[in-house]
This record gives sequence, structure tokens and C-alpha cells, in this order.
Amino acid sequence: MCGIIGIAGNQPVTDRLLEGLKRLEYRGYDSAGIAVINDDNGPSTLVRRRAEGKIRNLENLINEEPLEGHLGIAHTRWATHGAPNTMNAHPHFAGRVGLVHNGIIENFTLLRDQLKDTRTFQTETDTEVVAHLIDEAMKSGLSGKDAFAASLKQLTGAFAIGVVIDGVDGQLFAARRGSPLAIGLGDGENYIGSDAIALASLSSKIIYLEEGDWAVITTDSVEIFDANDTPVERAVTIVSGSLAAAEKGNYRHFMLKEIYEQPESVSHTLTHYVDAFHHKVKTLAELDMEGLDWNKLERLSLIACGTAAYAASIAKYWFEQLAHMPVDVDIASEFRYRRPALTKKSMAIAVSQSGETADTLAALRYCQSKGLQTAAIVNVMSSSMAREADFAMPINAGPEIGVASTKAFTSQLTALLSLAISAGVRRGLIDGSREKNLAEALTQMPRLIAETLTLDADIEALALDLSKADSAFYLGRGVHYPLALEGALKLKEISYIHAEGYAAGELKHGPIALIEEGTPVIVIAPTDALFEKTVSNMQEVATRGAKILLITDSEGAKNTAGMTDATLICPTVSVETAPIIYAITVQLLAYHTAVHLGTDVDQPRNLAKSVTVE
Ligand code: AGP
Repeated sequence: MCGIIGIAGNQPVTDRLLEGLKRLEYRGYDSAGIAVINDDNGPSTLVRRRAEGKIRNLENLINEEPLEGHLGIAHTRWATHGAPNTMNAHPHFAGRVGLVHNGIIENFTLLRDQLKDTRTFQTETDTEVVAHLIDEAMKSGLSGKDAFAASLKQLTGAFAIGVVIDGVDGQLFAARRGSPLAIGLGDGENYIGSDAIALASLSSKIIYLEEGDWAVITTDSVEIFDANDTPVERAVTIVSGSLAAAEKGNYRHFMLKEIYEQPESVSHTLTHYVDAFHHKVKTLAELDMEGLDWNKLERLSLIACGTAAYAASIAKYWFEQLAHMPVDVDIASEFRYRRPALTKKSMAIAVSQSGETADTLAALRYCQSKGLQTAAIVNVMSSSMAREADFAMPINAGPEIGVASTKAFTSQLTALLSLAISAGVRRGLIDGSREKNLAEALTQMPRLIAETLTLDADIEALALDLSKADSAFYLGRGVHYPLALEGALKLKEISYIHAEGYAAGELKHGPIALIEEGTPVIVIAPTDALFEKTVSNMQEVATRGAKILLITDSEGAKNTAGMTDATLICPTVSVETAPIIYAITVQLLAYHTAVHLGTDVDQPRNLAKSVTVE
């Protein structure tokens, strides 16, 4: 997870920027950089120092080649796309503009094409194009502030940005869209940071920018504007207590923070698996897995537990539909004991957030003992599974603290869908134009997740009803059947309300006997080929008194008017990426139900974050 810090100071800023970067080390990184407006003597200049590896490498560089100023920005980068080297490290420069960025700029290739005749690009990153946009706008006569605002309007994607501009003295620019960014208020100076931790040594008075906000910060002023450039006031939060409290930022629980991090965490997963620049997913060779060939594999065995197993179950549909690859999905604790008929032309993929789950690790070792190639899709690349598998594939979701897995789930799905597309391309089932469409659908995920998060207040209201229920059903068809299972698990494990996920078409074969007046039934059904059948199943339970919450898109809502007790309308998304978006709604529904009930959301009873016993 990348980190951002900036200071509009009345004192030299270099040491304090370095201090702020050290506070961001917990987010994980492998290169770092600082840029300041050096105004010591004569005309100001924009200078930077960048280094790969640990922040002490940057410190050593600065000791040898000092830079100083009263206005600066700094960044820790967790490279997932492009080597963790100095060239790719932030801040990126273009003319008079220095910029740090966290997230993904979806339309950067279009913007580069528009600028290619007038600008020289140093990297293939998405970040750099934003600096060029701002510098170009200033060359056309706009002020720094107007150039910044105008450039933001040209961007699509989910990002947090910090900018300094040579010759625009004392002004620090910041923007938040899908990735969190905070402002710290100081005494005669002000700051920006990815979260309250980054700012903890500078200020306890924190303003959390809201979705679409941008700001101009000086030593004695903070101007905040909404997405329509209307000046707005945002609340000042006093962040007190332990750093642990700050780690939650302005969120009440880690789980909520991690739900809201998903535009950012999914963008980090995407930059590892998707080459947005060329509108394609990366080949196994580009993912440093030359020893693997989708064409030489006859079968996949996906093995996992809990939420990760539901991600694997969704992936089964993708691999079989997109790549025509037979897939077995096994709950790890069952896998070994069924003595599976494995062949050496199978490949086993363990899916695990922690990479330490005992059942899954044991299954991985079992597959290795049978001579299979093995891979592990994990969030912790230093974990046992990552070290023991033949191939370790990161999801780069950043540390997940809440026991109930949320951002790891959507990042697992993002990685698995990218791999399924890659397999389909390699096996000749997906042509260039289909791959381009699929890659673009993936690249839109951070923005569409951010849009789905705006349903939060509606979901909180619906959760109040659900919190009074003794049990609930979640129904879905196709990929939304495993998602129904995941939704039920989320509700069970943090609210302690019994819930069952069911294939919508299966309920009539028995469980429908459980439906009575007022039984809550959550139906997950975007407008797709299975929508009509799912609606029929929904009506079967509605006629028996069920209280229906339909989660669908605008088309689905229109076609089911009057048939539900409540409807949540998600953004319209591609069939393939729908589970990633719809997951957000069932996460928030479980979260708010639990909060209404006052359970321990981050550490629910009986549960551990990583189950390291069989
Ligand atoms: C999910 O919310 C639960 N915390 C649990 O089911 C979890 O997914 C399971 O224990 C697997 O953990 P892992 O992904 O770290 O292997």
C-alpha cells in the first residue's frame, strides 16, 4: 500500500517528511522519494531524491546530497507494476510540477496520447501523465490552483494525489477520489497524509477529505473544494490515544476502514496483474512465472478455507467459462481426506489471505507430495504458503486487520479473474478485442467500488431491520451463488445471526420449508442471463412471506418494481466483474447489522484472524 505525506511549512521540511515516511512503513513499500521547493537562495527550484529499498537508503542519499525547503511532498511506493527502482519511484516530475499518487488512473493511456506531441514521458506509469496535464495547463496560462482543478476533471479512476509546483510558492495541492487522504492542521503550517498515522507526529487535528474533494493548503490556510469546485467545510477530527486508534483513521472499526480501502487495494492488485497501458492482462511470463503454461495444464485444483474458498468458488466459473479449464474447488480441511484423483497435469492453487491457514498449508504440501505444480495466491508474501509454493502470487491488498475478511476477498477475486482471462488468452479462447474489453472492465473496478460505497447509508438503514432477525437467507445463481455463501458468512461471523447462502434454484428442494412470514431473504442478482430465473425464485419465497432485499442494478430494479421490500441499486458492471462490486454491499450489510447489535466487529467471539490449527 503506497503512502503519501506533504508539508506546507514555516520550517525546513525534509526531516519531518522522512519521519512521516517512517510512520507509513507499516503499509509496506519498497522504494521512497521526497521532493521540495528549494527556496534557500535565488529563484526557487523543484528538487527531489528517490531511492529503492528501505527509507534509510533515501536518508543516506539525502545526507550525501541534501535538499531543503519549506514546501514538500514524499511517498512510499509498494511496486506492483514496474520494478521497484528509482525511475518508477515517486515523486514524478513534469516541468514545474512534482506529484505523488496512490491508486490507478484508468484513462492514462488516452491522456498520454493527447499529450504525446507536446510532452516527453520518462516512464510508462499512469502517475506521470497527471503531472504533465497540470504543467501543460499552466503553460496555457492557468494558475497552479486552476490547472490542478482542471486536470482532476480529466481523470477517471480511484486515486489520492499530492502536488507541489515550482513558482507557485507556498501552495500544496491535494485530491482524494477513491483512495483516502487527510489534512493535518498545524501551528503556522499544514500537512497532508495518507492517514492519521502519517501525520501523528505533526498534528492531532485531522480533516479527512471526502470522496471527490480537492484542496489547496498553505502555511496559514486550508481551502477545500468538492468535485464541483464548490468551497466546502469538512469536520476536524481530534485523533488522540494510541497509534492503534490512529490506524483506524476516522473509522470506527478496522473492518469498515478495510471495506473503504477497496478502491485502493483493488487498484494495487490490478497494477500487478493488468497492463493497463496496453489494455491487456499480463501473461504468466510477465508475472515472472515462466515455468507455468496454461496450455500444458489439464485441470486446476483450487484449495482454500472460508472467504478465500468462496473466492475460489467464484473463480471456478471464470476459469471454466473464459478458459475452458476444468476446475475443482475444495475446502482445504476436506481435500486431503477425500484422496483426490490428482494427476501431474493438474496444478494446485492455494488461496489464502494470511498464507498461514493450517488446513490450506497442509493441502498445499499434500499436492506437492503428489508431484503437482503448486501456486499460492496470498496477501502476505513472507508467509509459509508463499515460501513453500512453486509460485507465489500477491494480491497486494495491504495489511488486513479485521478478522472478517473484506478487502482481501475483492483482491483475491481481482487476481483470480485476471488469471482466468490470461488463461483464456493463452488457450486461444479470448481474442485481442475481448481481452481489451475485459482488461478495461477490470481497470474500472476501483472507481465502481468507490461508487458502490456511496450506498453505505442506505445499507445501514436496511441493516437495522436485519439486526432484529433470528436467521436470514442469501440467494444467488452462477457466480453469485458463492457470493451468497460469502454474504451469509460475513453476517454469521460478526453479527452472530444464523444465515445460509443458497443456490437460488435449489431452495425449492427443501430449505424453502424454512421460509415464513418476515424471513429476511437477500437476493443477489445483477441483470445477466440468470436474472429472470433468480427473480422467479425470489417470487417463490416472497409468496411465502419472505422479506426481500434485492441487490441488483438499475435495469434489474426497473424490472422488479413492486416485487421487493427493499432494493439496492449497484452500478451497472460487466458480467465478469459483477461479484467484485456486489461483494461490497454484503460486506457493508453484515458490518452495519453487527454494529446495530453491538458485537465486537473486529474480533468476533470464537474467531481468529488466521487459523493456524487444523
Ligand atoms: C473470513 O471472513 C474468515 N475470517 C475466515 O473464513 C477466513 O477467510 C479463513 O479462515 C481463511 O483465512 P485465510 O484466507 O487467511 O487462509
